[in-house]
Amino acid sequence: MNAAGLRWVITAGPTREFIDPVRFLSNPSSGRMGFALAQAAAAAGGETVLVAGPVELSTPPGVRRIDAVSAREMCAACEGVVFDGERDRTTVVIAAAAVADWRPAECAARKLKKREMSPVLRLVRNPDILKTLALRREREGYPKLHLVGFAAETGAVLDEARRKCREKALDMIVANDVSTPGFGFAARRNCVTLVYPGGETVEFPPAAKAVLARKIVRAAAELCG
Ligand code: CTP
Repeated sequence: MNAAGLRWVITAGPTREFIDPVRFLSNPSSGRMGFALAQAAAAAGGETVLVAGPVELSTPPGVRRIDAVSAREMCAACEGVVFDGERDRTTVVIAAAAVADWRPAECAARKLKKREMSPVLRLVRNPDILKTLALRREREGYPKLHLVGFAAETGAVLDEARRKCREKALDMIVANDVSTPGFGFAARRNCVTLVYPGGETVEFPPAAKAVLARKIVRAAAELCG
């Protein structure tokens, strides 16, 4: 399908999971891959919503940005955009955010003194955004919703990507090898392979995130027929 007729929802960056107002758990995701995807999607002409974690990047032209801090906020923002009752709308979600899988069981209302803190932090699971969207797609009947994930791995990259593709009921997953210095996470370049539900793969040579973003957007648009 021509990318111009699509709605894109792209997640980017890390999430922050607060322990108290001045401390949080997070990761070094720069958001560059997600922002590059949003730029590529908008340039292709599709309506583009970027759900962004806390990052130091400016919003690409033509992109509607929704800021989210925690995984729960990011999940709610995505659900709000995607499940708007327009079931005939073709929507592609590309989840490039590095979402924290766990959050502190409690967040103190005021800054904790070190003497008040335990050396053991109790955590609880965060929602899985892609699984939440896949479940609602099935339950509420959104057949024109297509889900694309990222799998940032340091080993058994393709096997892990295939597992995640299956477990999250994705239409495609972008396997991302972050073991090589200079690629992935906080870098400007990336090394990716597309993995499909049947296990088939399409490998892209290492390239700048902007170049890969255009290829990923093209491949994701093809999922829509
Ligand atoms: N993801 C998500 N919600 C989460 C965690 C991850 O939507 N709570 C999405 C990511 O945006 C990415 C894909 O799921 O598109 C895979 O994320 P990754 O962190 O690689 O996988 P996990 O599900 O966390 O699996 P594991 O910890 O087993 O590696």
